[in-house]
Amino acid sequence: MKKIAVFTSGGDAPGMNACVRAVVRTALKLGVEQVVGIKKGYAGMIDDRFVDMDSGSVSNIIQKGGTILQSARSKTFRTKEGRKQAYENLKKHGVEGVVAIGGDGTFAGARVFMEEYNIPFVGVPGTIDNDLYGTDYTIGFDTAINIAMEAIDRIKDTAHAHDRLFFVEVMGRDAGFIALRSGIATGAEAVLVPESKTDIQQLIDTLKNNHANKKSSSIVVVAEGDDAGGAFEIAKKVQEKFDGYEVRVTVLGHTQRGGPPTCNDRVLASNLGIAAVRELLKGEGGFMVGQIHKSIERTSFEKAIKHHQRINPVLLEMVQILS
Ligand code: F6P
Repeated sequence: MKKIAVFTSGGDAPGMNACVRAVVRTALKLGVEQVVGIKKGYAGMIDDRFVDMDSGSVSNIIQKGGTILQSARSKTFRTKEGRKQAYENLKKHGVEGVVAIGGDGTFAGARVFMEEYNIPFVGVPGTIDNDLYGTDYTIGFDTAINIAMEAIDRIKDTAHAHDRLFFVEVMGRDAGFIALRSGIATGAEAVLVPESKTDIQQLIDTLKNNHANKKSSSIVVVAEGDDAGGAFEIAKKVQEKFDGYEVRVTVLGHTQRGGPPTCNDRVLASNLGIAAVRELLKGEGGFMVGQIHKSIERTSFEKAIKHHQRINPVLLEMVQILS
């Protein structure tokens, strides 16, 4: 392959830049003549936002959050016309293969595109949610859980000072991985995740019990997509039936997506970026590269989209045992 493209898509994740850097430098070292970056994901592919990249263009970005290529969630790419326009632009620029860094929406797009056109795409899992099947960890997850952990540690200090109950909402529209990890790491009394049904009465019982055992403050970590609602809604439901604590709510929101990636995310992103290029240069595509038990594995886009990473029930139990 003489020319390949790389883009980032969906929710940005810390470590995406480290991955772009690895893709560009690996490709050039392995003899690819030109690497182009596509700005704003599939939207930029349709709008012809292609930029030439060289080794220098990815200098000094490994430590940066966000994505220098920017990101988007494109509705137009879901249409046949949009994908046709994207194909014409890829052809016009002589792109022979593409590395797509993103989550399941990104891979769903790549899969449909590859059914219609013969340009191979290799995916790299980049999302703070860690919900992708086919990799132990996604790029950005480690950073997000550490940001959430640090924020909750701070909240714990003030919660204790005022004998308060805090509901802390973390990201995860469909997945509770950030909530679970950060909740365990901060000694939360309860963690509420979309993958398991939330029983408000049981939560109240736990809080009452802890209160009776002289716990003066409490933390409940809520994944934004929990089936019982967001942190504000759940706090209200609990307050109606239990007034043992003064209650406060904090929503961490997009703070979890920004800032410098952790060491783990930088290394994972570099490793997967290299792997993606090596696979693409074999002339193959239609799959994501992930890291499972330290080795690089391919998972077809179809599987990566269809299956979701499962919540480990042992971790959920851990919260209850230690509460
Ligand atoms: O997919 C990553 C993620 O951060 C989710 O955890 C969250 O629900 C969503 O993106 C937020 O998306 P947006 O930035 O478009 O509001």
